[in-house]
Amino acid sequence: MKQIVHPVELVPCGDSRGYLLALEGGRDKIPFDVKRVYFMYGIPCGAERGKHAHLDTKQVLVCVHGSFTISCEFGDGRPTLTYTLDNPTKGLYIEGFVWREMCDFAPNTVIAVLANEHYDEAAPKEIRDHKLFLEMVQKGMS
Ligand code: TYD
Repeated sequence: MKQIVHPVELVPCGDSRGYLLALEGGRDKIPFDVKRVYFMYGIPCGAERGKHAHLDTKQVLVCVHGSFTISCEFGDGRPTLTYTLDNPTKGLYIEGFVWREMCDFAPNTVIAVLANEHYDEAAPKEIRDHKLFLEMVQKGMS
């Protein structure tokens, strides 16, 4: 069962005109072919998002504007990892069966997520029941 979480430093080009941050699938800090990009925005104060674990998806999260906190739980007794993403240069790589919860969104936060697979609404490859997540980790079932 793969469970990988680590920060990713994303390096922008910057000059007197401002910054340009380019992300290329399969290169640099995005170690997969990008099949999907989605954005979260208009997030109300006090909202909580996520609360699920993908079965085997690879993702890089980038806080384009604002800030939020994300916790990543492995379900096997290891401590939960918590990150504050508050700058586009501070990405977070998440691969595999990791329970993630997102909260503490600053006003007008915009988050981009790059993923290695398409979204299939008819057959979502994610678990949204935390108890089931823990059971599946214990049984090595993801
Ligand atoms: P959801 O997974 O609930 O967001 P969160 O990351 O907070 O758990 O997704 C919200 C809605 O967006 C839901 O109706 C499914 C839809 N959606 C897509 O259509 N495509 C996608 O790639 C994703 C991630 C979600």
